[in-house]
Amino acid sequence: MALRPYIVGNWKMNGTRANLPEARAIDRIAGRFPSVEVGITPPFTLLSAMAGDVSCVSVGGQTCHAEAAGAFTGEVSAPMLVDAGAQFVLVGHSERRWKFGEGDSLARAKAEAALAAGLGVIVCVGEREVTRLAGQAVESVTAQLKASLPRIDGMVENISVGYEPVWAIGTGRVPTLGDISAMHRAIRATLVEVYGPAGARIRILYGGSVTSANAAELLGGDEVDGALVGGASLTAEAFAGIIMAAAARVDA
Ligand code: PGA
Repeated sequence: MALRPYIVGNWKMNGTRANLPEARAIDRIAGRFPSVEVGITPPFTLLSAMAGDVSCVSVGGQTCHAEAAGAFTGEVSAPMLVDAGAQFVLVGHSERRWKFGEGDSLARAKAEAALAAGLGVIVCVGEREVTRLAGQAVESVTAQLKASLPRIDGMVENISVGYEPVWAIGTGRVPTLGDISAMHRAIRATLVEVYGPAGARIRILYGGSVTSANAAELLGGDEVDGALVGGASLTAEAFAGIIMAAAARVDA
């Protein structure tokens, strides 16, 4: 793995202050494996408390609004995430796309707002099962990516990409390693096409049913620079094995 592995736990709409000890336990594990960058995206309500509780893990938002402030009831802006202690944010997660109707242009606007606020951004993309079965997965995901990527000069180092097949999220199903590798190579080519040589340094994370049992294999795919983990990030016990699998690849 040429780039520093990046393992991000997305807690989704899970967790209260009672779960902060898990974040502290994950932080201790991250401290033992400094070759791996570890992040957690808790619900907004936990951001500030978690950011104050951890020192080796970076804390991020799960989404943000594209505007910095204004009459947008219920929304949270990128500068507000910074104020709460966040260092990065996910945009375009498939649950935002498919459960909340968010599209590529909104993901791009959010990503640009995040970068402008000084946050790192993980731009998420992924195909639905019907698209995969139709043999259109690579074309679909690269088109989604091109339309979702932020275009802000000189901030490429703050961008990562999360490839998450919609049908693999929370289902226990994962693509073959060959399919993951083919997709990550296509994403890499798209990143270089959009950003030039700097696109080679953008980390591409695989997400969708990653567990400590399959992490070592999945992290061995071509151009797989880390993992975006949902269910298996909620406890330190489950998440630890994924962090260790990434560390083992660095040492290999
Ligand atoms: P999962 O979720 O690991 O529970 O499949 C991944 C994600 O949605 O980020």
